[in-house]
Amino acid sequence: MSRVPVAILISGSGSNMAALVADMEDRAHPARPCVVISNRPEVAGLARAARAGVPAVALDHRAFPDRAGFEAALDRELDRAGAEIICLAGFMRVLTPDFVTRREGRILNIHPSILPLFPGLDTHARVLAAGMAVHGATVHEVTPELDCGPIRGQAVIPVLPGDTPATLAKRLLPAEHRLYPAVLRRFAAGDRTPLALFP
Ligand code: GRF
Repeated sequence: MSRVPVAILISGSGSNMAALVADMEDRAHPARPCVVISNRPEVAGLARAARAGVPAVALDHRAFPDRAGFEAALDRELDRAGAEIICLAGFMRVLTPDFVTRREGRILNIHPSILPLFPGLDTHARVLAAGMAVHGATVHEVTPELDCGPIRGQAVIPVLPGDTPATLAKRLLPAEHRLYPAVLRRFAAGDRTPLALFP
């Protein structure tokens, strides 16, 4: 069985990237990691990928005159690696509609809220401010409109008394690390059925 090559894009620690790579160590997984790319060269996630034996590439977005220049370099790296699926995992650059449209239907992202609630940034603080009883993460297909693509999986956790944005984020990460790999397995196998996880 030929496994689908997956590129993982990061901007930080890469904990979701590490969970995806670890899950793909199972040879029965329909996908395999072909490259990890970070827009910030100094992040720990690149060394994490290299230690896992995955090609790791730093593309410092500050080295390019504009988004188009950065995305042309990103395209070259993705094509060089033969990526057929792109997983955004803590990737903090907004991709242009042109880039997304060219690869639409093959890009996933994980967002730390139960979309369509709380798109955008600072979701943990906003969930607390809204008095939510639950929080969660969503894996969705990336479309030109931010955090709005078709939902492919969601994990739900409780909001506990005394929670802060930091304690919520810390409790959510393990749920993300279960959700994203499970969704990628389905997605790489061509299954678009949304997954609901209640860790
Ligand atoms: C996570 O909350 C994820 O949902 C968001 O970025 C945060 C850090 O992810 N996309 P990671 O540890 O860099 O994978």
